[in-house]
Amino acid sequence: MKRDLLSEYDLKVEEIDGLFARAKELKAWLREGRPYRPLAGKTLGMIFEKASTRTRLSFEVGMIQLGGNAVFLNPRDTQLGRGETVADTARIMSRYLDIVMIRTFAQQTVEEFARHATIPVINGLTDLLHPCQILSDIYTILEHRGDYRGLKIAYVGDGNNVANSWINAAARLPFHLTLACPEGYDPDAFILERAYREAPCGVTLHRDPAEAVKGADVVYTDVWASMGKEDEQEKRARAFRDYQVNAGLVALASSRVLIMHCLPAHRGEEITSEVMDGPRSIVWDQAENRLHVQKAILEMLLKED
Ligand code: CP
Ligand code: NVA
Repeated sequence: MKRDLLSEYDLKVEEIDGLFARAKELKAWLREGRPYRPLAGKTLGMIFEKASTRTRLSFEVGMIQLGGNAVFLNPRDTQLGRGETVADTARIMSRYLDIVMIRTFAQQTVEEFARHATIPVINGLTDLLHPCQILSDIYTILEHRGDYRGLKIAYVGDGNNVANSWINAAARLPFHLTLACPEGYDPDAFILERAYREAPCGVTLHRDPAEAVKGADVVYTDVWASMGKEDEQEKRARAFRDYQVNAGLVALASSRVLIMHCLPAHRGEEITSEVMDGPRSIVWDQAENRLHVQKAILEMLLKED
């Protein structure tokens, strides 16, 4: 039975912890220069309908390090861009590839692709979710703090795909998530309501960023205008003016606070350079860990296939 990773709900809690343990091992082996190539002969297809630096590189390099191959597919150059249906494309790609990663707009597109594909499908970001990002972010917290359980994680900014994935993760895992979003930019209502009911340590949504970050172990932010929303940049800059992660806001968090951003950052907007380049920032480790966690994901999904 093939497995997909389209949302945080596609993994059992034990599997998430298992991925973190495996990522730690794979990272250590890479550091030691120990070759590990369980995916020899396997090919990952990567469909990108939006730009990417980290996701593309980490998946492509991850496959190469595990002994496999990766093929980059730009929908503009494939028949998908000329109207071949998602379902037919999924059927066809399943005949050539062993696994596929998709970055697109609608969550329904990855779900439809997965329904018609006979190979595992990974969500590499949609307008709704960014599950691979949040898995490696939690791994990064674990690496820096020894555990993620019981921590207070504060997300400040747009209620976007990254925020929604944080909420899904908090609905499954034992950490407390607080969010601060301006009115009109709340996370997805269904995702939030479900997390209010299910989260073991709670999810709270504030309007005031100071309330959200008070005593927080992690302060996390993301761009104010996600890919596809660039034309709202000016309007959003006004709406999010008081939501910048700067030294004043960070001073309200724990003295051991970790500063995180999925990147790319708009320095001087959602985060100041002082904070992003400051001593509490772990954004570079965070970006690197995409590689190690995704290798663990690829291995898990291909082993089960
Ligand atoms: N964080 C992240 O997904 O980065 P890219 O858009 O560069 O892939
Ligand atoms: N929320 C951002 C994340 C980029 C990795 C976007 O969707 O553009």
